Amino acid sequence: MSEKMMQTIQVRRYGGPEELVLESIPCPRPGEGEVLVRLHAVGVLPIEWKVRQGLFGRVRPSTFPYIPGSAIAGVVEEMGPGVTGFSVGQAVFGRSNNGGYAEYTTAAVETLALKPEQISFAEAATISGGATVAWSALIENADLQPGQRVLIHAAAGGVGLFAVQFAHWQGAQVIATASAANAQFVSSLGADIVIDYTRTPFEELARNVDVVLDTMGGEIMTRSMRIVKRGGILITLLGQAPSQQEASYYGIRAIQNTPTFPFPSTHLLQDIAHLMATGQIRTTIARTFPLSEASQAHALSQIGHGRGRIVLQVAP
Ligand SMILES: NC(=O)c1ccc[n+]([C@@H]2O[C@H](COP(=O)([O-])OP(=O)(O)OC[C@H]3O[C@@H](n4cnc5c(N)ncnc54)[C@H](OP(=O)(O)O)[C@@H]3O)[C@@H](O)[C@H]2O)c1
Repeated sequence: MSEKMMQTIQVRRYGGPEELVLESIPCPRPGEGEVLVRLHAVGVLPIEWKVRQGLFGRVRPSTFPYIPGSAIAGVVEEMGPGVTGFSVGQAVFGRSNNGGYAEYTTAAVETLALKPEQISFAEAATISGGATVAWSALIENADLQPGQRVLIHAAAGGVGLFAVQFAHWQGAQVIATASAANAQFVSSLGADIVIDYTRTPFEELARNVDVVLDTMGGEIMTRSMRIVKRGGILITLLGQAPSQQEASYYGIRAIQNTPTFPFPSTHLLQDIAHLMATGQIRTTIARTFPLSEASQAHALSQIGHGRGRIVLQVAP
């Protein structure tokens, strides 16, 4: 019997978006505890162009060729050994560690959940790496409480749009940064104050906050530490660890986001999907591209000024 083939995007060396090349390779087979997913949509996360550029090449070198992409949504095509709780033909979403820019991928069932009918595959592909990260940072690690003040940087982005909604839903006072073009959008998500970071230094309007969600790093992270009240917390999503010397000087905690594994768990994915299916939170898709245009999708993501998540639509 001839081997089943699939279209996929492969990266053979570090470089620009042109290194994302459409190729035909054998379809993977699901291992123990995994399913084979026929993909409909996959989210494009900033980490994927950072890895492609080789920004983590020293600390976490890539093995070539590799297939980028992890935030998946599709239909279960085949069950691996030992899998229970899922069946062939079910619509699922979540995280794959085996490359999502493809027609098929394998994924561990512990990082998958059933997709509610009310949300599309493209919408479901915005949850992993976006909503799941916002939840683990704000609700789990920062333990955000009703009435607290939170500053969320890059609130119009694929993480920020969920972070604003979770914080608002939790009853916190939400201060958010976005460019003027996204101010109305961020307000509509539940932000009480939107700071146009291109015109106003955030320190002018955000002071004595309980929690900062830092999605920018660098000097924005450093400046953000100064506006956290004593006893408060800054959580960064970036690779650069916050200075513990400065944190203790200000009397705050400053940490990198550390999710609990498996991440995202079926349970977390289900909870978020339920909030979306019942209209309590919503997602936004910045733009969709076909799989063959993954390089254009990366080029757009690298600009760093979007509204919502870019998605590759692999199948309708
Ligand atoms: N460690 C983790 O687990 C993890 C997970 C997910 C994401 N991340 C990281 O978190 C960051 C955000 O991810 P994302 O998926 O939300 O990115 P994204 O969807 O590409 O969002 C980019 C957003 O950044 C905003 N922005 C750009 N410059 C800004 C500035 N100076 N101040 C405030 N906002 C600014 C843009 O808004 P305007 O268009 O209004 O300028 C845009 O909406 C990325 O660096 C990503 O790698 C880490």
